[in-house]
Amino acid sequence: MQISFSSMWSLLCLVSIPPLAIAVKITDIQGPAFLSPLLGQTVHDVTGTVTAKSSTGFYIQGEPSSDIRESYGLFVFSDSSSVRNSVSTGDSISLSGVVSEFRPSSSDDQTFLLGTELESPTNIKILSTGNTVAPLLLGPSPRRSPPTQQFSALDLVGPDGWLSVPNNQSRVDTVNATVQPDEFGLDFWSSLEGVLVTVPSPTATDFENSFGEFWVYGDWPITGQNSRGGITLTFGPDGFPDGNPETVIIGSPLDGTDNPSISVGKKFKDITGVVQQQFGFFYVIPLTAPSVTSSPSTTAPPTTLTHSTDACVITIGDYNVREALAAFHFSIPQVADQIANFLKTPDLIFLQEIQDNSGPTDDGVVAADVTLQTLANAITAAGGSFAYNFTEVISVNDQDGGEIGGNIRPAYLFNKDKVTLVEGPPVGGPLDGNQPVIGADGKLTLTFNPGRIDPNNTVWDNARKPIAAAWQTTDGNRFFTINLHDTAKSGGEPSQGDPRPPINTDVTKRAGQVQVIATFAQALLALDPGASLIVAGDYNEFVQTRSVFAPFNNILFEVDEIANISIVERYTYVFDNENEQLDHIFVSKAVIERQGK
Ligand SMILES: *[C@@H]1O[C@H](CO)[C@@H](O)[C@H](O)[C@H]1NC(C)=O
Ligand SMILES: *[C@@H]1O[C@H](CO)[C@@H](O)[C@H](O)[C@H]1NC(C)=O
Ligand SMILES: *[C@@H]1O[C@H](CO)[C@@H](O)[C@H](O)[C@H]1NC(C)=O
Ligand SMILES: *[C@@H]1O[C@H](CO)[C@@H](O)[C@H](O)[C@H]1NC(C)=O
Ligand SMILES: *[C@@H]1O[C@H](CO)[C@@H](O)[C@H](O)[C@H]1NC(C)=O
Repeated sequence: MQISFSSMWSLLCLVSIPPLAIAVKITDIQGPAFLSPLLGQTVHDVTGTVTAKSSTGFYIQGEPSSDIRESYGLFVFSDSSSVRNSVSTGDSISLSGVVSEFRPSSSDDQTFLLGTELESPTNIKILSTGNTVAPLLLGPSPRRSPPTQQFSALDLVGPDGWLSVPNNQSRVDTVNATVQPDEFGLDFWSSLEGVLVTVPSPTATDFENSFGEFWVYGDWPITGQNSRGGITLTFGPDGFPDGNPETVIIGSPLDGTDNPSISVGKKFKDITGVVQQQFGFFYVIPLTAPSVTSSPSTTAPPTTLTHSTDACVITIGDYNVREALAAFHFSIPQVADQIANFLKTPDLIFLQEIQDNSGPTDDGVVAADVTLQTLANAITAAGGSFAYNFTEVISVNDQDGGEIGGNIRPAYLFNKDKVTLVEGPPVGGPLDGNQPVIGADGKLTLTFNPGRIDPNNTVWDNARKPIAAAWQTTDGNRFFTINLHDTAKSGGEPSQGDPRPPINTDVTKRAGQVQVIATFAQALLALDPGASLIVAGDYNEFVQTRSVFAPFNNILFEVDEIANISIVERYTYVFDNENEQLDHIFVSKAVIERQGK
């Protein structure tokens, strides 16, 4: 220690520059990689102009370098209001501070990316006041805009890119690669960390979250735009799922004003704000609340499929009623209105998240017939063209996940004038495992109708068990259905966080659940390769996570694909930056062959 100290000292003596006097540029602090080359060091004579102030610090900006990988903006953190109040926007200042990489210390937040900042600012000197800093106007080349496909080079470890399984194979901040802003979204925004930017003519891709924040893309190259103005999760031209890094989240305005209410496709005047890594995403935190320039309708159009009296035409709907529907729930009239007037009363509806008759009261009640009858009556009251019948399998109390006591489950509503349950097999109990069998009449049927599939399998622990049913039409045709609700992604980690590919919570559970369903489908089709089978519900997974759906390959086929629905219109859900699809309908070959007959 002694030796190395003295040799370092002699080196400093040789160059004879006191190290404390070296002025450090913001671009030197940010450097070309994710982490600062000066991490942990105290730096002096950092100069920049104050572009914005927040409740925890202020942003300064210096001269850009010729290397676009190096950001020229920086957040200066201070929990002292007197320090924050000592500077004003437009002040050109010099200061000292400690270079730090910050993320919140709560254990839940360990998946957030680190953000570079200057802490413990001292020696703040105001060099001049009243300066203006022109924001960097983002946009198409020759201006800069985010890449459109991938978040990070570290995601390209499997054919499913950022949706690859296994995920969580490396961490951006551990690898600390030099950034590639033209190729990867995280790299692009990292290269602008702390910079004042203008997002030109933004369009919203979602609805505001509970903090009033929302996602936009600017007037720059984008991919996956749907007819409502949102951005849909699709495959990119590179064959990987497209993560849509061309979108950015707009935070709460720095001046304390409130963001307007947001819906997909809403357009705004240019938004100017600072780029900040927080809560697992790169934000643009606007200086003030954005002004809305146009607001499209927030109502999706109803289906063009209409109810038919033709025995050969069966309409089918799939609806997760969410919010865990109970008989007395405020959302019953709204759900009923959507089934009657938007889904146009399908002959058979696959419902998910039906609560038992006592709703969330944890009293041992496990039947949901009152809930289902209440919903059926409400659909009639909302103008439905017939009265629905229903069928379900009762639960074992508190074994299926969801709200405690609610016992949410999949269930079917059906139009008995078009379809009825094949008679013979009894309704299964909660522990009965349904099996396909050839009945005494030589026809394919099930051992329970309806009945749960492999209910003791550990893949269904604390999850809703799928129910299989056998149906017949008024002209004697028979078909089979599986209604499922796989384990939720809830608690899912940010797509733009530190672990790569991003942690996809419980993806291995969902993969196991799809495998159990595929095994059942295979057994059914082995008895009758010509069987018509429809497997629908809330898979809680994107089809772009191909590894999860692989057990269906060559057995079951996705109806959007068969119906040739435009790829960008395939979404049932809006979450963060993505319009995406977690609910899917898959069918056997025989169903495809019925098309047009
Ligand atoms: C991150 O990488 C940059 C560029 O290679 C390097 O200068 C810096 O020291 C690294 N930081 C850390 C903390 O490893
Ligand atoms: C992700 O990987 C890290 C390091 O290998 C590990 O500590 C952590 O538990 C993993 N997280 C999840 C959710 O698998
Ligand atoms: C339909 O519901 C009615 C009224 O609850 C009941 O009487 C009838 O048996 C049901 N029919 C079928 C086919 O389930
Ligand atoms: C599930 O386990 C229960 C005992 O816990 C048993 O009675 C039942 O038969 C099992 N069901 C199946 C399908 O194996
Ligand atoms: C599918 O739709 C696209 C347009 O969205 C069209 O170009 C293509 O020909 C259609 N394919 C089939 C098989 O109908």
